Amino acid sequence: MYLITNQQDWPLLRAGVFPSGATVGFVPTMGALHDGHLTLIERSVRENDVTVCSIFVNPTQFNEASDLANYPRTLPSDMDLAEKGRCNVIFLPSVAEMYGTHVESIVADYGTLTNTLEGAHRPGHFDGMVTIVRKLLEAISPNRAYFGEKDFQQLSIIKELVNRENLPVEIVPCDLIRETSGLAMSSRNVRLGEQGRKTALTLSATLSAMRDGVLKDTPAALKAWGTNQIVAAGLRLDYLEIVDANTFEPIEKWENREMRILVAAWVEGVRLIDNADISPKA
Ligand code: PAF
Repeated sequence: MYLITNQQDWPLLRAGVFPSGATVGFVPTMGALHDGHLTLIERSVRENDVTVCSIFVNPTQFNEASDLANYPRTLPSDMDLAEKGRCNVIFLPSVAEMYGTHVESIVADYGTLTNTLEGAHRPGHFDGMVTIVRKLLEAISPNRAYFGEKDFQQLSIIKELVNRENLPVEIVPCDLIRETSGLAMSSRNVRLGEQGRKTALTLSATLSAMRDGVLKDTPAALKAWGTNQIVAAGLRLDYLEIVDANTFEPIEKWENREMRILVAAWVEGVRLIDNADISPKA
């Protein structure tokens, strides 16, 4: 596995080491890799000749300084996991490498895609995320880029970015991966204590029960029930919403269209997100 830290090293490596015309799959991450990331790397390895994984804790997408400071950084084990997944190249740039001297975001206003849910609760988060994804796609110019559905809203915004800017890359959505307990895999889970992990299970359990309750109750009643479950378990809820999976507008009555339940809540000072597909086909 190659390790590069400068953007200009990638075209040199691509041309010098890999066969011309080799397809490139890209897995952008902020490190603290877990088995969810491993499935993205493995899928990229299966579908491309070369897989590049970036590890970059992007400062502009953190709307709270303490969240950035506490974000787990586990480079040695990240390298081991990427190697296990047979990743070919790790791109590990510095902040100066990606931003120069102006650590700033572009404004990404995609209407309800960017201003609801995560966008409403984490001001500036999606601006920073879109800024860095744009820069990374430009630096790596992959054929395909892999993103997990745990960050479902992020994934939709990235698809929209690629559409609007006509970027020559295929965005590949990958299933949300859960621990056997049901907890959605997240880099932030390492910050949970034993009790926090148990409390956090309320999120996946509530989503699963809500999925079973679709059509049996109105969307408003189902949302109220889920909200009660989460609050009663002691989590601090940012939002629990039943939305159209394409527009992120709230669902007021059940219809034959793609729908998701999305949730964000705090456990032991750790912010967790999760979601469930409740489309009629799901
Ligand atoms: O999902 C993440 O880990 C990050 O938001 C991403 C896409 C790597 C951009 O920093």
